[in-house]
Amino acid sequence: MKKLNVGLVGAGFMGKAHSIGYSDMPKYFWPAPAVPVLKTICDIVPEIAADAKERFGFEKCCTDWRDIVNDPEIDVVSICTPNNVHAEIAIAALNAGKHVLCEKPIASTLEDAKAMAEAAKEAAQKGIIAMNAYQYRRVPAIDLAKKFIDEGSIGKILNVRCTYLQSWSADPASPLSWRFQKDIAGAGTLGDIASHVIDIAQYLAGDIEAVTGMMQTYITERPVQEGGTDLLGTVKLGADAKRKAVDVDDEDSFLVKFKSGAVGSIEATRNAWGRNNFITVELHGTLGSLYFNYERLNELQVCLAGDPDDRRGFKTIYTGPAHFHGEVTWNIPGMNIGYGELKSIESYEFIKAVVEGRQPSTSFAEGYRVERVCDAVKRSAETGRWVTVND
Ligand SMILES: NC(=O)c1ccc[n+]([C@@H]2O[C@H](COP(=O)([O-])OP(=O)(O)OC[C@H]3O[C@@H](n4cnc5c(N)ncnc54)[C@H](O)[C@@H]3O)[C@@H](O)[C@H]2O)c1
Repeated sequence: MKKLNVGLVGAGFMGKAHSIGYSDMPKYFWPAPAVPVLKTICDIVPEIAADAKERFGFEKCCTDWRDIVNDPEIDVVSICTPNNVHAEIAIAALNAGKHVLCEKPIASTLEDAKAMAEAAKEAAQKGIIAMNAYQYRRVPAIDLAKKFIDEGSIGKILNVRCTYLQSWSADPASPLSWRFQKDIAGAGTLGDIASHVIDIAQYLAGDIEAVTGMMQTYITERPVQEGGTDLLGTVKLGADAKRKAVDVDDEDSFLVKFKSGAVGSIEATRNAWGRNNFITVELHGTLGSLYFNYERLNELQVCLAGDPDDRRGFKTIYTGPAHFHGEVTWNIPGMNIGYGELKSIESYEFIKAVVEGRQPSTSFAEGYRVERVCDAVKRSAETGRWVTVND
């Protein structure tokens, strides 16, 4: 069985998710396209790197990502750092001939995103693979929605409504981590979570052509968390903690027009009490409607216009072995998969693409397009006008 040595940079939340994705992947997908070997894990904080080596089962650890990129033994690099260093690491890794799986958003600036898409295009000519980690498009129920759309079962798509609502930063005592600093994150809610539903919306309904919207910051100051992993609101800092201004968005609402002629809306916030990972996608077509909510990610709701008048309504389909990557679904619909399995699906798609020498989705080009939509939202929020997404 072919093996691929993994180097992983950034040992926080996503470092854990990618480690689990790689190590569990062959347990679900067998024979695996190749078996990932957890070789080296890097974190800029030495204690986090050492801890992660033991916990996630890597052979070595380091504190400088260059030790991974320059190591001839490493085949694939996972980038799980905050957004501002994605570009530097990804471009160096691609130039060194490593295949790259980079967390989303692709970068913290549009310029970096463009440079990454160009580097990936050049690397592709040498058979090097680059993938942006938008795993939610790989939820089996989202894949089933795509199947309904591609088969024409819901007709021409008329509108698409998406939300991504969370509550973890709704408390003003929730710390100002890197996610609330523009120079590190690039944007707030827009890049962190709206980007996911922009990716899903474009995956299902095609490219977004123009947007008009608003961006708000409700909590303008927070207690500072210095470095380390973002604790995502699980720790509250006291009144005596140093405070700093928040320079990114808490909430975004925008209308979208698709190139296809469909219209829609996207809303994202991390301050919605009672909403946890409330990713919803509702599409209405000329022949039917589809509804998905990540908080019930093993279900897709479908309503078909052709059903008899007295039977028409949403029915719920539980995803299972009959659906996309049924290997991960524990044999019986309703036994359910979760976030860890999604990262195993992502790892499978990435490793398979590497072995087959084929560019996977979400490609860096698609990740860059999500950034261009985000850029259009920012420009619209400044001017209050409709803004065309740059092609
Ligand atoms: N796909 C998803 O669903 C999803 C979910 C969460 C985060 N993310 C993305 O993953 C990335 C990481 O987010 P996270 O939540 O894991 O953050 P985190 O704060 O939990 O972890 C980041 C880690 O990177 C380390 N780090 C910072 N700079 C570094 C450098 N130069 N070299 C090496 N290590 C460095 C930090 O010490 C920290 O341990 C971000 O781009 C984020 O947007 C994606």
